[in-house]
Amino acid sequence: MTENGSNQHQSHWRIPFLSKKQSKNGNSNGANPPIRLPNLPTLPILGFNGRNHAPRYAHIIGWGMEVPSRVLTNRDLEAIVETNDEWIRTRTGIQERRIADERETTAQLALKAARKALSVASILPTDIDLIIVATSTPEHIFPSTASQIQDWLGANKAGAFDLSAACSGFVYALDMAAAKIRAGDIRYALVIGAETMSRVLDWTDRGTCILFGDGAGAVVLAAKEEMGGVLSSTLRSDGSGWDLLGLPTLGSRDTYLMDYKYRDKSDDEQPRLMHHLHMNGRAVFRFATRVITDSIREAVKMAGLEIEQVDLIVPHQANQRIIETAAKSLKMPLEKWYSNVHKYGNTSAASIPIALCEAIEEGRIQEGQNIVFVGFGGGLTWATMVLRWETSLEQQPHKIMDVRQQAVYWYAIQRRAIVRRWRRIFNRLAGSPTPNATMRQLRNKLREQETTKQTSEEKMESWE
Ligand code: UT7
Repeated sequence: MTENGSNQHQSHWRIPFLSKKQSKNGNSNGANPPIRLPNLPTLPILGFNGRNHAPRYAHIIGWGMEVPSRVLTNRDLEAIVETNDEWIRTRTGIQERRIADERETTAQLALKAARKALSVASILPTDIDLIIVATSTPEHIFPSTASQIQDWLGANKAGAFDLSAACSGFVYALDMAAAKIRAGDIRYALVIGAETMSRVLDWTDRGTCILFGDGAGAVVLAAKEEMGGVLSSTLRSDGSGWDLLGLPTLGSRDTYLMDYKYRDKSDDEQPRLMHHLHMNGRAVFRFATRVITDSIREAVKMAGLEIEQVDLIVPHQANQRIIETAAKSLKMPLEKWYSNVHKYGNTSAASIPIALCEAIEEGRIQEGQNIVFVGFGGGLTWATMVLRWETSLEQQPHKIMDVRQQAVYWYAIQRRAIVRRWRRIFNRLAGSPTPNATMRQLRNKLREQETTKQTSEEKMESWE
């Protein structure tokens, strides 16, 4: 019998509990005892090649981030809303944030972060099996931003979808990808958190516009037989708090209700802005400080660890005071909590992967360490993940791989141009409207509607 209670064929299925590396990282130095992994597969399972394989673990092998170059400081904000640097610093810890320029989109930031992650991982885009983009500010409601990334990267065998879990989104997405890897379905996954929050902020609301920023972070997850990587995770939601933090938009229930409710009201009873984020800051603050500690305790226990064995917590970067309150109630020194909220503000689903990249760059993460990610936000949602970091942090130059990656990116651009041109010709021959023509028709229709509305409003005014 194995330690997890199964009578597997030990000769083929030796669980690498006591690999040389593990015993070295284990009790010998007294710091990190060997991991008691929960829920190891008890039967041989079929892998991505249809072959039996040993239990596999999902390890982060690549990481990358991208933030816009435009910096918006607290002082700059003083000119926009009634606020001041001192209030923002003391209440949130934020000093500045990055704001995308007019032509910079969520997918573009995500793409740059993804390319950097692939470069660190030293794999080709064509190796990726799954792309998940966690975002609340996608390019479109659909198609997904992930599909766009798949096309731009030339990841021609990857499935792709966006995931909506607000600021917890990255941890949710990582958990989905890790589960596919551990199930033996896929070998590589690209998980991205990307946002352009500045596009959906109400720049007259000082309670929210001072908090958020734009950016993207990406990681590559890989299947490995070496024990470690993702050890445990807990995903939670409390939908009763749906109205505490959100972004009502087209197609949502609010579109209809607000139109109905406010149609005959005067201007000073403006509805909640449709495409703008709203938040009850105090209530979300209370919720966050309440759930973080319990969630971390639960996930750490599931991983077979004690809180003292956690080396670094990379939390969602919403507010320095939330981080300090959580550290206090978990009785963990603040040095074990990574924070860069002062530089980027709250970048929602992008905040954890961005913080991870900077933690690695600053040497805060070492091989053999136990790392915790914790996210919380709209939904309400919250999620914690515990990982054992086993990936080498010494980056080697991968010149040949870099050239091959560039070749795939170049090919993806050519392929897209050819396929789209061919589709246009084919549609024309078949007599069906081209995609561009469809979009043009739509725009014209909207313009017509707008003109009709304006004319009727002008008429009403002239009657009054
Ligand atoms: O990523 C998703 C998760 N989101 C979060 O975790 C956000 C959680 N919430 C928070 O971080 C905090 O609640 C905020 C930073 C949003 C607000 O901090 P607070 O300490 O809860 O402030 P408050 O809302 O209780 O407001 C205190 C005072 C109010 O004035 P009065 O009523 O006491 O006179 C506000 O009007 O501060 C005022 N205020 C401001 N003053 C200057 C609110 N925003 C500002 C501002 N500048 N930007």
